[in-house]
Amino acid sequence: MSDIDLQALRAVDERLVERYSTRLSKFGDDPRTLGWDKRESQQARFGVALSMMDFSGKRVLDVGCGLADFLSFLQERGQVPASYTGCDINPDLLARCAERFPECKFHQANLLKDEVPGGPYDIVVLFGVVNFRFTEFSNEDFARQMIARAFDTCSEAVVIDMLTAVHDTAYPVEGFVYYYDPAEMLRFAFSVTPHVALRHDYASIPQREMMLLLRKGPGHD
Ligand SMILES: C[S@@+](CC[C@H](N)C(=O)[O-])C[C@H]1O[C@@H](n2cnc3c(N)ncnc32)[C@H](O)[C@@H]1O
Repeated sequence: MSDIDLQALRAVDERLVERYSTRLSKFGDDPRTLGWDKRESQQARFGVALSMMDFSGKRVLDVGCGLADFLSFLQERGQVPASYTGCDINPDLLARCAERFPECKFHQANLLKDEVPGGPYDIVVLFGVVNFRFTEFSNEDFARQMIARAFDTCSEAVVIDMLTAVHDTAYPVEGFVYYYDPAEMLRFAFSVTPHVALRHDYASIPQREMMLLLRKGPGHD
């Protein structure tokens, strides 16, 4: 795994900020701003995370929080975290988050290079953060380093979703996103911790995805 070049990372961040800010001006508070096709798909993804992890009473850090929709999802289901902190590279999205949830903390940060203040955190979640295909550096390196940083940042667990290379043949393969080999990601996860779960069994939303859970210790059931 080679280190990500910081200049390349800054260039990627600039491109991503422009992409999501343009979408925010066009779609407003809508999952399409975040590149999701509809609310049901976004919530199905959150629901898979909820099936793997209990978030109630936990200190949650949402990396790449977008519009902090994961928080409203948790609240609607009575899974109220002890605290919710969002971090994102996009100041426009973060400004919307702060308006929506003034009781929460939001930080402009890229987990790979910035310290996220306000810890400690029990659980770090990343939804849709590693799917964009990069030309400046390897997606494999990026995803692994994000997971490793997230694991260092939490006291309990990391939950991350990825597009899988085991494609759903009903949906076209897209060039601007990256598909991760589930076996390789599992192998990597086991190099971090023995307490790993992978869900690769849920319906496509609309592409096939997987959800990886890395715990610091054994799960409870
Ligand atoms: C596909 S959107 C998902 C938003 C939110 N997690 C959700 O599921 O609704 C990806 C988000 O990750 C943010 N992002 C991308 N790279 C990031 C990084 N390295 N650190 C923090 N945020 C990042 C983007 O700005 C964007 O808001």
